[in-house]
Amino acid sequence: MRVLVTGAGGRLGSHVLARLRDDGMSVRASSRRPRIGSDVEWVVADLATGDGLAEAVTGVDAVVHLASSPRGRTHQVDVLGTRRLVLAAGAAGVQHLVYISIVGVDRVPIPYYRHKLAAEQVVAAGPVPWSVLRATQFPEFLDDLLATSARLGPVFGDRAVLAQPVDPGEVAARLAARVAAGPLGGIEKFGGPQVLRFDEAVRAWREARGSRRPLLPVRIPGRLGRELRAGGLVTEALPRGVRTWADHLADTYGGTARR
Ligand SMILES: NC(=O)c1ccc[n+]([C@@H]2O[C@H](COP(=O)([O-])OP(=O)(O)OC[C@H]3O[C@@H](n4cnc5c(N)ncnc54)[C@H](OP(=O)(O)O)[C@@H]3O)[C@@H](O)[C@H]2O)c1
Repeated sequence: MRVLVTGAGGRLGSHVLARLRDDGMSVRASSRRPRIGSDVEWVVADLATGDGLAEAVTGVDAVVHLASSPRGRTHQVDVLGTRRLVLAAGAAGVQHLVYISIVGVDRVPIPYYRHKLAAEQVVAAGPVPWSVLRATQFPEFLDDLLATSARLGPVFGDRAVLAQPVDPGEVAARLAARVAAGPLGGIEKFGGPQVLRFDEAVRAWREARGSRRPLLPVRIPGRLGRELRAGGLVTEALPRGVRTWADHLADTYGGTARR
């Protein structure tokens, strides 16, 4: 099977490329800039303009759509860009489009999530048989968030927010399995092995880094806070990932924090 991966140069993309290749797929990867790789065919395509999309989807059986722009032009890239991709894929006769989304896009009122939900709807309404995988947060995302906060002094956070970090390599394996299984015509969810309160996650992070930064508790107000504390970002769906937050911390910072 020949598969195009959009956003292939990103964090999740590198795992997806490796997994699809290991599974014996022929892989084409797209980025906005030229890249070279020995066992992947790189092509240039931009979702914001549509440039290169028709060429990128020509001759592929399936598309794994990861590209996203959370920090600007999100509507242009994630919603309208997904529409451009879906239409190009339909015109090229692509048999399956797999879209990566996030657990909570339908519950948690964050502008980025509103765009991801709209992109899911574009995929579902489009001409290509489809699947959506909603994953929970990658541990690297939580790690970056805490590190950014700690640079300013104390770590700020709502102690009771629930998170369920999931390893991006395991998400890549789920995506590859979905490619192999064919279109679901629906949404599946995939989360990490443990649901953690924010203060538990911060405690483990501080121990792993030997940090003395205190956690300065804030209560996130309104519906956003209510959804985050009520589990808007977590899922009971099975199976779950295996690698824990402690595994990530041990691999990243050393030590013996595992499980
Ligand atoms: N981070 C998380 O915790 C998490 C959790 C669940 C789901 N997800 C989803 O997983 C996906 C990948 O996340 P990630 O953390 O791997 O993101 P990432 O590292 O930021 O990668 C996203 C990629 O999108 C590409 N991109 C941005 N603007 C583009 C445009 N105009 N046209 C074409 N490509 C564009 C970029 O590739 P180039 O710069 O090479 O063009 C970038 O490498 C996203 O859809 C995200 O919503 C993330």
